[in-house]
Amino acid sequence: MQIACGADHGGVDLKDQLVAYLKEEGYQVLDLGTHGHESVDYPQYGQAVAEKVAKKEADFGLCVCGSGIGISIAANKVKGARCVRAHDPYSAEMSRRHNNCNVIAMGGRFIGLDMAKKCLKVFLETEFEGGRHQRRGGQLEIEEKDRGESHE
Ligand code: RB5
Repeated sequence: MQIACGADHGGVDLKDQLVAYLKEEGYQVLDLGTHGHESVDYPQYGQAVAEKVAKKEADFGLCVCGSGIGISIAANKVKGARCVRAHDPYSAEMSRRHNNCNVIAMGGRFIGLDMAKKCLKVFLETEFEGGRHQRRGGQLEIEEKDRGESHE
């Protein structure tokens, strides 16, 4: 399973630690940067991760910025990406079971490494339940098109 990972300067330390964790756990990792502490803009990293997932060049995405907020907004602007900002395992679990999220965002200034690992593990190991949740997720995409916001 391939995981696309990206972060800005506020999330790079946590991203690097989670990349190492993913590799230890046997996942393939596509590390899209950033790779240092120089100030960069989170939208390009969130979008890059989300595009890999939306194009099915990665199975899931991990985005980290300082708060997890900006980078999750950026990821959710990519059609086909469904990003959850999750700092607790229950949110991570439910985002998979009910929302079929394919990208998880976290804030490097908000969450410790052990909790981040737990959230990521639960996210990657939980299946989407489908059924009524499939219908509801589909409605979100219809509404995007109705608003003329499709970027196909
Ligand atoms: C960068 O200082 C910070 O604004 C960014 O990492 C993120 O928290 C934005 O949502």
